[in-house]
Amino acid sequence: MSQMQRSHWSNRLGFILVASGSAVGLGNIWKFPYITGEHGGGAFVLVYLACIMFVNVPIFIAELYIGQRSQADAVSAFEKLHHTGTPWRIAGAMGIVSSFLILSFYSVVGGWVLDFQVKSVLNQFAGKTDQEIGGMLSALFADPKSLLLWHLAFMVLTVGIVIGGISRGIERWGRILMPGLFAILIGLLVWCTSLEGFGKSIDFLFTPNFDKLTGNSILVALGHSFFTLSLGLAAMITYGSYLDRNEDLVKASLAVAAADTTIALASGIVIFSIVFSFGLAPNAGPGLMFSTLPTLFNKMPGGYLVSTGFFSLVAFAALSSSISLLETIVTYFVDKRGLSRSKVTIYAGVAIYLLGILSALSFNTLADFKIGKFTFFDLFDGLTTNILLPLGGLIISLFYGWILSREGVKDSIQGHGGELAWKGLMWAARIFAPACILWVLYNGATNWLFG
Ligand code: PHE
Repeated sequence: MSQMQRSHWSNRLGFILVASGSAVGLGNIWKFPYITGEHGGGAFVLVYLACIMFVNVPIFIAELYIGQRSQADAVSAFEKLHHTGTPWRIAGAMGIVSSFLILSFYSVVGGWVLDFQVKSVLNQFAGKTDQEIGGMLSALFADPKSLLLWHLAFMVLTVGIVIGGISRGIERWGRILMPGLFAILIGLLVWCTSLEGFGKSIDFLFTPNFDKLTGNSILVALGHSFFTLSLGLAAMITYGSYLDRNEDLVKASLAVAAADTTIALASGIVIFSIVFSFGLAPNAGPGLMFSTLPTLFNKMPGGYLVSTGFFSLVAFAALSSSISLLETIVTYFVDKRGLSRSKVTIYAGVAIYLLGILSALSFNTLADFKIGKFTFFDLFDGLTTNILLPLGGLIISLFYGWILSREGVKDSIQGHGGELAWKGLMWAARIFAPACILWVLYNGATNWLFG
């Protein structure tokens, strides 16, 4: 596609909404609370926040810059900024593979959310005991047909939005979904302060206990910091490529990182307030959100509306993320291979759906089918989040710090803290972020695989 015709986000707000739409998703509301629970709370949160600030914000700026400068897809971006066939384009290629893998299991979880959304609309939590509600996700797991149907529904919605393109598909939805999500979360947060578990929740999340921190926890925190900001797989290179050349990258990056972190912490506070108020276990794993929230909704005045609103918004948050995963793949095939958007979107959607079946069945028919010690779901999730995304981030960071012209980079952050900010950013991208990633990958990956 020639540059003259390339679509662009309509303005900075539009971009911030779609980029935070990508960042804020199941990673924040579903994954962050349950992995924090599994890894013991406060110390894990601290490591996660440090990763966001010192490793991911620089890489966020790097990805946007690479996209904005090149106005090209994940792979061509590296070629345009360096030379055709440059080995650095491996980061883009890995990103396309990661997008496939992530979307395949992401859509399965998106399907669970849709199921709970419909259960809320149909008022099916009413009159049930806490135990009964707590068992609803296991009941869904025991029913492969429903799992596959919901997974299908989620993929169809994702494909439906991406087919519409940048401004009429993705941006239009981002503008509707994100402000709503924010409003509901604030409402829930205020409500939670009245729960007896609120204090304990804050304590659990913010009082670090380093005894519980293992090498693997640090790998998980780093991996999740990439996952939650949609980094390391060129999704932000792709979104950046639809950004106007004059747009301020630093402001946009900081706004997205702040929104994402705030929403993850707020979700954690809400979920653990409920967990501790009703004596549930903080380390319940992937089912955590699905057992805690309906329990709360069932008890609160106006619970029907809140529950419906909440699960709708989680579904929207998931969708605004899944579209960025699919768009990364679509942009590549449209830009680089010259295929038609609608065809690519549909074919990719079908391929991802089929791959996702393995993850959907990991909870029942294929539960005992292990590769090493992992089910397909755990394998796709762990491999992308713990290994591929940090590795992609590492390559992007080095490319940005060492290969691109320093003047260009300096220009792009002008007006933000002068020389010092620029030096700090360069130091982070060249040395600090890569060193952290290497260290964590070295210590953590063996732990994840063999631990
Ligand atoms: N950031 C999204 C979330 O937190 C997931 C995602 C990862 C989306 C990578 C796009 C790319 O749910």
